[in-house]
Amino acid sequence: MTTVDLNSVITGDACEVLKNIADSSVNLVYLDPPFFSQKEHELSSRSNGKTYSFNDKFSSKAEYISFISPILKEIRRILTNNGSIFLHCDRYASHYLRMELDEIFGENNFQSEIIWSYKRWSNSKKGLLNAHQNIYFYSKTKNFKFNQFYTDYSPSTNIDQILQERVRNSNGKSEYKKDSKGNIVLTSEKKGVPLSDVWEIPFLNPKAKERCGYPTQKPVKLIQRIIELVTNDGDVVLDPFCGSGTTCVAAKSLNRKFIGIDKNLDAIELSKKRLSEMIISESGVLSKGIDSYIEKNSFENNLLSLLNAIPVQRNKGIDGFIRNDNSLIPIKIQKNSETIDDAIASLENAVCGKDFPIKILIQTNEKHNTNLFEKETDIKIVKYVDLQIKNLLKVV
Ligand SMILES: C[S@@+](CC[C@H](N)C(=O)[O-])C[C@H]1O[C@@H](n2cnc3c(N)ncnc32)[C@H](O)[C@@H]1O
Repeated sequence: MTTVDLNSVITGDACEVLKNIADSSVNLVYLDPPFFSQKEHELSSRSNGKTYSFNDKFSSKAEYISFISPILKEIRRILTNNGSIFLHCDRYASHYLRMELDEIFGENNFQSEIIWSYKRWSNSKKGLLNAHQNIYFYSKTKNFKFNQFYTDYSPSTNIDQILQERVRNSNGKSEYKKDSKGNIVLTSEKKGVPLSDVWEIPFLNPKAKERCGYPTQKPVKLIQRIIELVTNDGDVVLDPFCGSGTTCVAAKSLNRKFIGIDKNLDAIELSKKRLSEMIISESGVLSKGIDSYIEKNSFENNLLSLLNAIPVQRNKGIDGFIRNDNSLIPIKIQKNSETIDDAIASLENAVCGKDFPIKILIQTNEKHNTNLFEKETDIKIVKYVDLQIKNLLKVV
């Protein structure tokens, strides 16, 4: 058997190349194969203008499974005894692939079905918006490597209760442990909630530097999480359908060795380029948390909720939309620091080029710019009740 160089990306058919890899020599295989979407995927790269494509069409499910099955068998052979496979798929064929994995790796070695969920905004078809993909995690044996990760407690968790140590009483029921004086005993600090099998990791946004123009490119952050879960420094990570090389980039960034395989020469060249540049985009949602995107203060939130308005974040000119029959009415709440003229300008700017039947500004103070004449506007200005009362009091 000719062995394959570590830290290399190889052009060739996945199954054929895998046959050249020694038994029990790879710690993790992540694969993102064709999904049986029955589509030809195509995308153009912004940086080099090149069009990348790959074919995901099969004559039948049976043909698809007979394509994947021998690859899964080779993967099992090359995995170390404490190694794991993560198979990425989606609703098109996940149910068939799960059965195939059970068959080859054994039902008892099924560890998790990871739901990779992400936000999407539009849905052209009738039905629920599809916003997740599936990743099956099987180990080769029961004795698999696993690094436990913890996440923060949810804001609704009663941390006080969590920190109270529990014991079993004489009836086998769990109860709070008490010291000799009857005081509840607190545990040493809890680590958090063990990482669950639902992962919210954003898709790469269209402008992300990491985006290389390869169709179905996955985010490096997603693969990094898998690698960190089941491998350590210096371990070998292999991706037999590496596409643009995401897994190799993720492995290299974490000091793991990698092998990437793809039958498409363009994909291999792109992988090599990405490995030499190593661009990994930070995700604000992952590093700062989704709540960091909520910009409204409690006054604005309460007012929007009173008006039954849909709050809008990250927009300077519009704070929310009120539903009126079939149309949406933009609404802005004047900020404390804003003059009324600036608030008008900011709402006008935000609605420019869009056709709204009416635009509403809630005036909360009477600060004006120094110019003597108020700008003409078709924005309807409603004085906040607080301001109306202050004005009424001025005249008594
Ligand atoms: C879903 S894409 C992988 C995308 C990749 N995860 C990324 O982030 O860029 C699937 C890849 O499988 C490759 N492929 C399809 N059939 C193959 C085969 N028999 N052997 C090797 N690669 C194959 C395609 O060229 C394509 O690049």
